[in-house]
Amino acid sequence: MLKIQNVNTEICIKCKKCIDICLVKLFSLEKDEKGNKKIVFSDPYKFCFRCGHCLSICPTNAIEYTGAEKPLEFDGIKNPEKIIAFEDLFKVIRSRRTHRCFLDKEVEKEKIEKVLEAMRYAPTASNRQRQSFIVITNKEIIAEFSSRIMNFFFKLESLLKIRFLLYPFVPKGVRRRLMSKKTKFQLESYRKRTLEGEDLVFYHAPCVIVLHAPSYSQMSASDGGIALTHGMFAAQSLGLGTAWIGFAQEYLWRNKRYRKKLGIPDRNNCYGVLILGYPKYHFERAPSRRELKVKWIE
Ligand SMILES: Cc1cc2nc3c(=O)[nH]c(=O)nc-3n(C[C@H](O)[C@H](O)[C@H](O)COP(=O)(O)O)c2cc1C
Repeated sequence: MLKIQNVNTEICIKCKKCIDICLVKLFSLEKDEKGNKKIVFSDPYKFCFRCGHCLSICPTNAIEYTGAEKPLEFDGIKNPEKIIAFEDLFKVIRSRRTHRCFLDKEVEKEKIEKVLEAMRYAPTASNRQRQSFIVITNKEIIAEFSSRIMNFFFKLESLLKIRFLLYPFVPKGVRRRLMSKKTKFQLESYRKRTLEGEDLVFYHAPCVIVLHAPSYSQMSASDGGIALTHGMFAAQSLGLGTAWIGFAQEYLWRNKRYRKKLGIPDRNNCYGVLILGYPKYHFERAPSRRELKVKWIE
């Protein structure tokens, strides 16, 4: 874990950028015994949240730290707007699709690791970085996970056969939807297609990634969403297709026993499930979305 230690006064040019950039104001300009000015780092109350902004901004690399690998440097880092033009980025955004048809082909470990790396660099609230991942590539375990979720739907289908008896016990808000002919038809179709060998949860994808993290507040869910989005775009750039599997996320969220079986610690919950695989099809065009609803307050 990154720990800022000091400012190397030999190379520090006292530009004060670290003082400016530090959100919690841990750098200050002070005078030493001889009256010479120097920038000092001091964090007696452990306020530093390891954002690394100080070492990213320092022109002479004078911030000393421990516990982390070297920050990434590359030509053009100072002008990120030049790395990819908006028009190209927008094409990347528009061409991302949920994939539900995959080739029967494993995803190379190196590619999965690259997707995980992209998720690693997603921002998190207060820079907590407390997300962990479980990568499942074992076909039998993926199939078992899927059938557990489908069993839930099958149980629901059986219960709906006596829906008129259940009616008084179902909360008003869900009555119409749960009791509708559409739901009945949908559940019947799920059963039929599953019996025919379809995997309606993971679509026979060769890799399932479960993201889990401690539950803080809404922020845990937001953090999970950003990480998975990073992962989806990274996968796309590696020629992989992805789908976010809310069914599996919801199942894990509610099923402590299965969380435990997968190795998710008690204090953590599931904040996203992503499948990866080589897409069977390539989309020819990017569909439209609903019109934006925006209120401008100017
Ligand atoms: C939070 C979330 C949960 C989702 N859960 C599922 C799911 O369980 N099964 C599925 O097939 N697709 C799931 N999707 C994919 C959406 O259906 C898909 O994003 C949406 O239809 C738009 O299609 P696109 O991703 O190709 O643009 C989920 C997407 C999100 C963002």
